[in-house]
Amino acid sequence: MPSSIVRGLSESQVTPEAWFDPRRRHLLALAAGLSLGWTNRHAFAAPLPDAALKAGGEKLTGLGDITSYNNYYEFSTDKKAVKILAQELTLKPWTLTVDGEVEKPYTIDADELTKLFGSEERIYRLRCVEGWAMVVPWSGFALSKLIERARPTSRAKFVAFESLKRSSEMIGQRSSNLPWPYREALRIDEAMHPLAFAVTGLYGQPLPKQNGAPLRLALPWKYGFKSAKAIVHVQLTSTQPVTSWNQASPSEYGFYGNVNPEVAHPRWSQSRENRIGELQKRPTLPYNGYAEWVADLYRGLDPKLSF
Ligand code: MTE
Repeated sequence: MPSSIVRGLSESQVTPEAWFDPRRRHLLALAAGLSLGWTNRHAFAAPLPDAALKAGGEKLTGLGDITSYNNYYEFSTDKKAVKILAQELTLKPWTLTVDGEVEKPYTIDADELTKLFGSEERIYRLRCVEGWAMVVPWSGFALSKLIERARPTSRAKFVAFESLKRSSEMIGQRSSNLPWPYREALRIDEAMHPLAFAVTGLYGQPLPKQNGAPLRLALPWKYGFKSAKAIVHVQLTSTQPVTSWNQASPSEYGFYGNVNPEVAHPRWSQSRENRIGELQKRPTLPYNGYAEWVADLYRGLDPKLSF
């Protein structure tokens, strides 16, 4: 929110709670005689229905498949080897730092996350840019909670996520498949969207190492590469951060990574998907079936650019 809207109030009095209180946003803007900016146009304020939070009751992918068919380049490019190699990772101690364009940077131990932010279940579709897909019962908390705690300033426009770099345990980091550490990022309104989820568990149990323990993202309307695993650092920034896949191959991976059946990846058509455990392919849905709740974030943006 531009600070000019709320002259006289400190940053923390207007951000970020106001983003999710439409009445407050409205009053703040009206008081200043200004038109509503991106915060109002893009924030989705209504409670999300089960169709969004429970994948419309679709059949869950089995735990065995979710935990043995993984993309995690820090360990291997071989999906089936990740499960074994990831067991080398030491999870304790694990600290997470949230800083950058914030009033109150903080560092916490991963063990504190559930105590601080609670835990709920979200059943989300997961769609990889390679064409495979799953339906996954994650547990965790809204990503907005993690960000709100640091009280972003009005200069915060993006949120960058950095995964662990520890080549002594992550043997895939000894090769230069990707620039390490793995980095991903979102626009701040995407990160504050109630569907954006910070994951600490799977099928009601602590998150397995191969799925990104102790903390990963689940962004169900985006291709899986946006959902960084093993996060150690969340940084709010005023400019668009560099992201690993985009840096490695800009013609193949855009900044947004929104699921879009119309935009083919150079190596994989995106028109259909292969749900793990099903024989028949399914048509890919725009925003992976979450258009109703997220399309507004991208109003005015060329859909080809939002890939
Ligand atoms: N995060 C890190 N740190 N490293 C990775 O290689 N792969 C991404 C994403 N997050 C990746 C990552 C990709 S391409 C996908 S499809 C998903 O994780 C896969 O998540 P899963 O193994 O739990 O299915």
